[in-house]
Amino acid sequence: MKLVSTIADLQAGLSQVRAEGKSVGLVPTMGALHEGHASLVRRSVEENDVTVVSVFLNPTQFNDKNDLAKYPRTLEADCALLEACGATFVFAPSVEEIYPEPDTRHFSYPPTDSVMEGAFRPGHFNGVCQIVSKLFMMTNPDRAYFGEKDFQQIAVIRRMVEDLGFPLEIVPCPVIREEGGLAMSSRNTLLTPEEREIANHIYQTLKESKVWAEKCSVQAVHDKVVETIDRVPELNVQYFSIVDGKSLADVASWDESDDIVGCITVFCGSQPIRLIDHIRYKG
Ligand code: PAF
Repeated sequence: MKLVSTIADLQAGLSQVRAEGKSVGLVPTMGALHEGHASLVRRSVEENDVTVVSVFLNPTQFNDKNDLAKYPRTLEADCALLEACGATFVFAPSVEEIYPEPDTRHFSYPPTDSVMEGAFRPGHFNGVCQIVSKLFMMTNPDRAYFGEKDFQQIAVIRRMVEDLGFPLEIVPCPVIREEGGLAMSSRNTLLTPEEREIANHIYQTLKESKVWAEKCSVQAVHDKVVETIDRVPELNVQYFSIVDGKSLADVASWDESDDIVGCITVFCGSQPIRLIDHIRYKG
């Protein structure tokens, strides 16, 4: 495995690979890697000759600078995990390498990027599109791997790929969960052990809501999920939206679409830490 920090070094390595006609998989990350990331890397290693993993804490997607400051940074441990998973290149550039000039490009794919996370984190998906489009241009991968934990992010990136005509396949990979059901996230390390236990209620409630959905209306399921989670003193729902799985527009009835997903964001604990998750009702 080779660790590179400049675009020139990455592209020199990849031009050799391309000359040999080999396929390239890209796994974009912000570091603080866990088993969820490892599953993406292993999948890319299985499906491509060469796997590039980018480790870049992208400042343009953080609307809250405090959130950026708190984000765990663990490059050494990340490289050990990536080596064990079989990655070929780790691309860990500086902010100046990626943004020698401020990125003034503006991406807009409503409603995918304007609802839910887009509404509560203004500018977040614009920053995601800025970095992901740059990584696609620098790497020119055959396939790019993203975790379904960030369900909305995949919908936005798919729209960007269609819009800009990137010749690559987006490969969504299943959520990896901790034993109690909490979706794995780099932010989980910021929770105390007690909070981590309590946070399991989020997925347990979402799973239970699939049973409620067999008998109750969309609105009733929505309200019951919010009430059940908010009843736990350390948890506070920011939003729960039941949406069409592709457009991400709200649905009012279960017959409205054959692909229906419930997306939730919950604040957990005293700091508090923002946790996201989702459940598929149909599709
Ligand atoms: O999902 C993430 O970790 C980030 O949003 C991504 C795709 C690596 C872009 O910075």
